[in-house]
This record gives sequence, C-alpha cells and structure tokens, in this order.
Amino acid sequence: LFGLPGQAAHERVLLAADEQTGLKAILAVHSTARGPAFGGCRFWTYDNELAALNDALRLSQGMSLKNALADLPFGGGKAVIIKPAGHFDRPALFAAFGRAVESLQGAYITAEDVGTTTADMLGMQAQTQYVSGIPRAGAFGGDPSPKTAWGVFVSIQAGVRLQLGRESLEGVRVALQGLGAVGWHLAEFLHKAGAKLVVADVDAAKVARAQAELGAQAVGVLEILKADVDVLAPCALGASLNAQTIPQIRAQLIAGAANNQLATVEDGDALQQRGICYLPDYLVNAGGIVSVAREYRNEGEESAVMAEVSRIGERVAELLERVKREDSTPARVADAWARSKLVKPV
Ligand code: NAI
Repeated sequence: LFGLPGQAAHERVLLAADEQTGLKAILAVHSTARGPAFGGCRFWTYDNELAALNDALRLSQGMSLKNALADLPFGGGKAVIIKPAGHFDRPALFAAFGRAVESLQGAYITAEDVGTTTADMLGMQAQTQYVSGIPRAGAFGGDPSPKTAWGVFVSIQAGVRLQLGRESLEGVRVALQGLGAVGWHLAEFLHKAGAKLVVADVDAAKVARAQAELGAQAVGVLEILKADVDVLAPCALGASLNAQTIPQIRAQLIAGAANNQLATVEDGDALQQRGICYLPDYLVNAGGIVSVAREYRNEGEESAVMAEVSRIGERVAELLERVKREDSTPARVADAWARSKLVKPV
C-alpha cells in the first residue's frame, strides 16, 4: 500500500500507455477487500497527467465507499483515459484500454462513466471479459444512467419527506446542474412527479429541450447553484460544492449524481452549518453500479434491479437517523458507515 500526497492509499495503480493508439490511461484499484474493484472508465481532457492521476485516485476511493454502502460484493476502482489531443482511432484506443483491463486479471472491472459509451464497452469485449454496461438481447443491461437517475430520484423523495416535511414532490422546486445522461432522466422523473425544474447546462440544446418538453426554467451555468429552489441536484462534474459556492446556495437539500461534489470534507461541515442537508453523492448515485454489477453477475430481472436501486431511498432514511443520533454531518456519518463495510461481505 502506498499513498500520494492528499490521496488515499491504493492497492494497485496501473499506468497504461500504448504508442500506436495514443492510449494513456490510469487504472486505479483502491480496495479489493469486498471483491474485485468495480468502477467506470472516464474519457476526458486533462490539463496534465498528474490531474488525471488525481482524478482517478479520488474517483476510485469513492467507488469503494459507494460499493460498500450499496452492499455490493465488489471493491472500488476506477479508470481514466486521457483524451488524445489530435486525431485518434476510437475503437483501437478502447481495444488497447481493454488489453490493459485484461492485464489486471480481474482485479478491476470496468464500465461506462463520463465520456464513454455502451459502444466503447461492447468494442472492448473482444479484449477483456472484465467489462460491463453492455446492452443484451432479452435481458436488462447497457447504459446505467437511467438507474443512476432513479436512485437519485428516490433519494430526493426521501430527503424531501424527511428534511423538508413534504410528502410529495408536487410543486417542489429543483435545480438541476447538468442535463446529460443522468441529469436528463432525473429531470423526466422529477417532472412526472410534479416538481418545478430550474436547469442549466453548457449545452444550449439540452436546455432548450428541457424548456420545451419539461416546462423547465433555464438559468446560466454560473447561476444554477444560487437558484431560489428547495432542492439542488448537481449532475455535471465534481467539486461544485466549495468555499466559493456554498455561501450562495439557497436550496435546503442537495442530492445529485455527480461524483465528488464536495471539494473538501470541511465543505460538508460548512453546508451543515448553513442548515443545508447534503446527501452524499456516493450514497445516492449508486444506481448505475448496482445495474452494471447485476449485469456482470448475470443476476436478476429489470424489476429486481429497480427494487435494489429503490433501496437507496431507505438508506438515505437510515443515514439521516444516524446523523441525528450521532450529532454529526451526513458526509461524515456516511464516510464512517461505508468504511466500516470495507471488509469481505459475509
Ligand atoms: P454526461 O457527460 O452525460 O452529462 C454531464 C452534463 O453536464 C453534460 O450535459 C454537460 O454538458 C453538462 N455540464 C458540464 N459542465 C457543466 C457546468 N459547468 N454546468 C452545467 N452543466 C455542465 O455525464 P453523466 O453520465 O450524466 O454523469 C453526470 C455525473 O454523474 C458525473 O459526475 C458522473 O461521474 C456521475 N455519475 C454518473 C453515473 C452514470 O450512470 N452515468 C453513475 C454515477 C455517477
């Protein structure tokens, strides 16, 4: 075990490079205490290699906590592929990545994350068996984002009931930061439940669609965190809750899909001090990993997956109970709860 400054110790980190395809990837295995490390692959542009390494390490630790809290028989890992600057052959690049995954001999299992698609996962199948998130004929599988969105939705329902004292989402105002794969599905679930949406995305077409189809109010990307709403759902990238943004937040409840929403642990304390209830990202966004994990194990039907994802709402209720009992913050209680489960499941 070794640690990098400011990062959790990892069991194993593979730096994979392939000159022919331009692949530069980091495969981070944080913990295999509960089973093989399972977590998606991010395909993204980074300022430098250290930034990519830091992202991979933070995300993989988050996967250990997420998989443990979701009671999955898997450890935590994550991969990051640095998007090549110039032209590249995508299938060849992902084939090279698939070979890197295979070289870990099952210590790490991959799936989709930001920037990767079901087609990338499908293409990788020729190189490695340790891949999930692939559509299957006659069985559930593939894109995990609708399941992630459902988990966030049931978390918002539970939080609104327990923290805001409202039994239904009818008329509840929700700000959505990011209308991507997860954010869009979440917006649809919320709209159906009668919530009033305020949305922002850097992609104007997605915003226009939400206005037209879901009656959403659009605000700028710099305004969304300050919106006058009951609930804030960060569904873009990480670290949106930080020393600059927290004083401006008007929502009473925060629950969203984005990984690593808190820039630092202290930001969780700052939210609590402002009377804002933050439901930890890795608790509420576990729907996708529940889906790809079941798919990987060839377990259950769609309805069983949905039932398991819906249990995230019960865990939110249990977390809020624990927070009251321990007079602490949701972020700190969830962290300790998850860490107590970083052992082989019985
Ligand atoms: P995505 O890439 O499909 O969507 C992200 C959206 O955010 C895009 O529409 C993008 O234009 C928008 N965006 C980027 N910067 C923004 C900004 N500053 N303000 C407003 N919008 C901005 O990604 P996806 O799959 O929806 O994931 C969203 C987040 O949820 C990510 O942090 C991801 O790691 C996390 N997550 C996703 C899961 C999944 O099943 N897809 C599972 C668990 C976590």
